Amino acid sequence: MAGVYSAALRSHSGPAMLVCQCNMISSKEIEDIVLDLLKADPWQLVVPAKVYAELNRRAKCSGCVPNVVDIIVRVTENYHAQQALEPAELVNIQSGLEKLKKQRIGVRRERRSTSHRAA
Ligand code: FES
Repeated sequence: MAGVYSAALRSHSGPAMLVCQCNMISSKEIEDIVLDLLKADPWQLVVPAKVYAELNRRAKCSGCVPNVVDIIVRVTENYHAQQALEPAELVNIQSGLEKLKKQRIGVRRERRSTSHRAA
């Protein structure tokens, strides 16, 4: 199940491709590292340098960095889309907040004294 879940998050469109020719890093390696980083902290900023550090490598010619950024963006968007609440749950939260807001407004009106008015 975890393998299927990870594959859906990556939404890879084909076999693993060689992204970094200097370090021989494949797209699958980068996707796996990005997923691991997001699982550790979903709201951290994942940058290519962090991915290379996790792989114990460094960018040499940096020709691959734009492709690494594309992979990071794709995997991060898919990860957060999978983690997002269902629209029905969002509506329930919104209606609950509106109900609480109305209750607070009602309480505030009851506490207001008549001498509060300036006019
Ligand atoms: S292709 Fe990645 S550092 Fe050169």
